[in-house]
Amino acid sequence: MFQTMVIGGYPLMVYEKDGKRYVWLAGCPHKRRPITADGFRLDGDNIVCPFHKAVFSLITGELVSPPISKTPCNNCRLIRAYIDDGVRFDGEAFVPREKG
Ligand code: FES
Repeated sequence: MFQTMVIGGYPLMVYEKDGKRYVWLAGCPHKRRPITADGFRLDGDNIVCPFHKAVFSLITGELVSPPISKTPCNNCRLIRAYIDDGVRFDGEAFVPREKG
């Protein structure tokens, strides 16, 4: 099961598999764009960013396939989120933007 939600102004994506729940900031670390924007794709346990096609594991957050771009992707992994009273992140969260 895959769903998106917004908590505290941060878009999140929730992936559930085999009774486990994985929550991530819905932002692509490549250019900080919204990874669940129109054109994103799920591929098994992975998500494909619609902008430059970087592929990330929704289980581990790791980069599976790099972006098709001249701009390298630094610290290229999804940012894990935890939902309790609000939301907190394992890493530096950002609010994804379409451009700029
Ligand atoms: S913004 Fe996601 S691959 Fe470039």
